Parts: sequence; structure tokens; C-alpha cells
Amino acid sequence: MYLTKQEERMLDGEHGWANQISMKILVRLGDLFRATKLIPVQSAHLSGVSYKHLGDAAIEFLNELATHGGKAKTLATLNPSSLDQEILAKRYSKERSAKQKEIIKLYGKMCIQPTLTCTPYYLQTPKAGQHLAWAESSAVIYANSVLKAWTNREGAPSALAAALVGKTPNYGVHQPENRQPNALVRLETKLQTEADYGALGIHLGKLLKEKIPAIDGLSGSDDELKQLGAAMASSGMTALFHIGASSKQTKLETISVEAKDIEETASSLCTTDQPPDLVFIGCPHCSINEVRNVACALKGKKVHRDAELWVCTSRHVKESAKTYVDIIQRAGGNVLCDTCVLVTWIKDLGVDTVMTNSAKTAFYAPTLNDVDVALRPMKHCIDAACQH
Ligand code: F3S
Repeated sequence: MYLTKQEERMLDGEHGWANQISMKILVRLGDLFRATKLIPVQSAHLSGVSYKHLGDAAIEFLNELATHGGKAKTLATLNPSSLDQEILAKRYSKERSAKQKEIIKLYGKMCIQPTLTCTPYYLQTPKAGQHLAWAESSAVIYANSVLKAWTNREGAPSALAAALVGKTPNYGVHQPENRQPNALVRLETKLQTEADYGALGIHLGKLLKEKIPAIDGLSGSDDELKQLGAAMASSGMTALFHIGASSKQTKLETISVEAKDIEETASSLCTTDQPPDLVFIGCPHCSINEVRNVACALKGKKVHRDAELWVCTSRHVKESAKTYVDIIQRAGGNVLCDTCVLVTWIKDLGVDTVMTNSAKTAFYAPTLNDVDVALRPMKHCIDAACQH
């Protein structure tokens, strides 16, 4: 891979150990994927924040980077952490809270913003055609498909390296020829709810693996497409989908999706019909519109004393949706920022069953949280939280 003189000096260690190790990661990645050069990125979004998933060794590594000159050279933001300071910190040990704070502080030392959300695009929306280095699969697929920005699916180390160098190797979907569809999906049924969009995503992700689909017959709101993408990127490695197909694409490998495919996938994402201990809305983190919809669904109702309702979002959205947040909280729900069900220890809170409108959560929670799940549309979830 071609390196400029300055990049070579970084690689040789002239700009400190943190820059050197970051360059090593990027060069290795670039060589692996035959990138010809590094390109500047408009922003980097980092995973690897939750103490539940990171553990202590990662704290040592972050500390080394921060004390050896690591500083972000582009806008850099953070994914959710394992707890929020307002609600969950009080329910866990002081040690967990302190370790999580330490991780966020170390990122802060490197000028990486403590946004703690998987929807950084609500805070600062990338423009079409901008190059990014993002490491949250739901955000990556949303950025590429809905916002038309350009980012590969970075891993935690490569997104961090890209943040510290301000660049990423030019390969994958950073190149226009790699953004073209190589599979055609014919959607032969009408999707009714956001949970259907998620079920479609899980179904397609399994079939497509890394392929980029053009989905004929697909339409939907940004929130519904967010559910579709998050789910597709969970069961497969797809980083981009196209809405609609052209006549040029009729010769591509074709997958037809019928109502029974959606029904079967949705039912595979339900492992229990017991009343939920926890009802969870907000994977990926809610938009203002989604917070409003939850508030409307809750009007005149109260969350049952035997259930919890979590609505997860970013601090930015919570602040902008104050009226709706008040309605949710008055009804007995919690609006949590900085975290979500998958990255925290819900089992330690006595949760054995989760109902959610997110296919991504329903797909992962049985393994990552050791709980039973039920995928249902948001309105059904709210009714279940209130009736129990
Ligand atoms: Fe976001 Fe947590 Fe879902 S990080 S995409 S709410 S699993």
C-alpha cells in the first residue's frame, strides 16, 4: 500500500507509540484487502466501550494508547457502554460503574467524544459520499444504505486506529465498483410493522452473508429501514442494501421473500410466551419519532409493577424529546441513555424474559444475555408492559 512520507514517519514511530500501533493496524488491514492507499475519513465511530464485553485487559491497552500520545484526528464518537449513571449504576456494584467510567475517561483523554450511542447519525448526520470508519454494524448499514455515506464494517481496533490516524484503507465499499448490488431480492409480501422489517433483515442476512442486495418492492420509513438494516447486519455480514431494483439487476442471483418467510423468521425470534420481565424498545437507539410513538402508545396507561419498560436512546435525542420522555416516565417507564439491553447485565437484575420490537435484540439476547425473548411490534410490547 502506498504511504505518504508523513504516514511512513508515523509507521516508523516518529509520532509516538499510539500512532505507530494505529498505523500498523491500518497498513495490515490495507495489505490484506489490497488497498492502494489510505484515505481521510470524516468521522470514526468506535465500538469496544462496554465494560461487560471489554474486561480489564482492554482498559490496560486503552491506558497505554492514551499515555503514549493517542489523540483523535477526526470526529470520533463512542458506542453505548454497559450502564448509565442515572439508573443502572445504582443497581450494580461500585466497581462495575468505576471501571466503565475509567474506559470512557481514557477515550476522552484521546479526544474521543462520550456520545455512548449506536445512532451517532442523529447527532451529526454524515453527508452522501462522505468516507467514514464506523464500527457498529447497525450504524454502518444505515449510513451506507439510507444516508448514502461510505463506510466498511470496521472492527473495534480498526475504528480506533482510524480515529487516531484520521484515515482508513481505501478498499471495500469505499470504492464505487464495490457498492453495486450482487443479489436481487424480490419482496413478494407487504411488511406491516417494524418487527416485520427486522424479521426480513434476519432472514436476508442469513441468506446473503456478505452480498449486497437490491431489494425490489421495498419501501419504508427511516425507522423501519433502521430495523431492517440492524437485523440484516446481525445475522449476516452485509454492509449495504439498495432500496428498489432496476431492470439491469434482473440477471443477478435472485431471492424471493414471501409472507411465510417473514412469519417463520419472526416466530424463530420468540423463545417464550411468558409475560416479559423487561420490555425493551430502542435497539438501535430510538429516534425522536420512536420516542414520541412510545409516549403516544403509553397515554392513559401505567407500566405493571411486575414488569420494567426500558426505552433506550441517546442523550441528544432524550434532550430533544423532553415532553415525550416525561409522559413515558410518568407512566412508570425508564428512558435510558448511554446503554442498551445487550451490553449490560440484565440477568443480574433478575430478568429472565425480554419482549422487544427489535429483531437484532431478539436474535442476540438468548446467547449474549441468557434470557428468553419475544419479538413483537412496539404497540404490542407496550400493552404487555402495562397488562402483564
Ligand atoms: Fe445499539 Fe445496543 Fe442495539 S448498541 S444496535 S441498542 S444492541
